[in-house]
Amino acid sequence: MRTIKKPSQFQALVRKISRPLVLVPTMGALHEGHLALVRRARKLAGQKGTVVASLFVNPTQFGPKEDFSRYPRPFRRDCSLLWKTGCDLVFAPEMGEIYHDDRSISVSENQLSKVMCGAARPGHFDGVCLIVSKLFHIVQPDISVFGEKDYQQLAILRRMVRDLNFPVQIVSHPTVREPDGLAMSSRNGYLSAEERRQAPIIYEAFRIAEEKVRSGTTSKTKLATWIRRKIQSAPLAKIDYVEIVNPDDLQPVRDLKPPLLLAAAVFFGKTRLIDNRLVQ
Ligand code: PAJ
Repeated sequence: MRTIKKPSQFQALVRKISRPLVLVPTMGALHEGHLALVRRARKLAGQKGTVVASLFVNPTQFGPKEDFSRYPRPFRRDCSLLWKTGCDLVFAPEMGEIYHDDRSISVSENQLSKVMCGAARPGHFDGVCLIVSKLFHIVQPDISVFGEKDYQQLAILRRMVRDLNFPVQIVSHPTVREPDGLAMSSRNGYLSAEERRQAPIIYEAFRIAEEKVRSGTTSKTKLATWIRRKIQSAPLAKIDYVEIVNPDDLQPVRDLKPPLLLAAAVFFGKTRLIDNRLVQ
């Protein structure tokens, strides 16, 4: 497995890389969720194709009060996990190679990113669209794999690829969870023991909410209130948002007819966790 640090180096190599080229963009601090994406990429690439993972903690998607500087960066461990999981190439650019101080071009999505995490984290998805555009230009993948854990990100990137005609197929992969249901996340490591014990309440609330939809609950307001109360039954949970939306356009639904997306962001202490459940 080779590690490439300069975009120019990657671009010099890219025409010689055997295809399909499948990219898994990450910010590192890898866990089983990321590695499941790499395994999926390996299957999509086949033995002849090439799997590339990127490791880059992207500053433009962090708000001024967010955890950019303390975001974990276990570079050598990440490389070794990628190597063991069947990745062929790692693209790990340095900051100055990606962002110029006087950069003046942005990429913004103006519909799907107005709700949910986009409303709570202004500018976040512009940062995601900018870095993913740059990665697509540098790496030139045929396919790129993203996790359903970040459902809104996935929907926005599908829209970006469609609206800007990127010749890239987006493949999504289901959320990988801990045995107690908590969605794996690089941020779970910030949780105290007690916060970690309470955090699966989000998964639990969505699991029961789906059962309620299936057994005929029809009031969206009642279900949203029930989900909030259930999550708040964990004393350390502070809800940022709970939404029940249409999974295609992320707009609020009026009635509870599947397909529905249940989505939430919840603080445990300073750590903001997100999760979602698709009810089909
Ligand atoms: P990061 O949070 O490192 O996640 C990288 C990829 O792993 C994303 O596609 C995310 O949805 C997926 N992922 C994270 N946790 C997962 C889980 N428990 N199960 C399945 N997939 C999971 O998302 C980002 O980085 C960045 O925004 C990025 C796209 C790399 C742009 O900087």
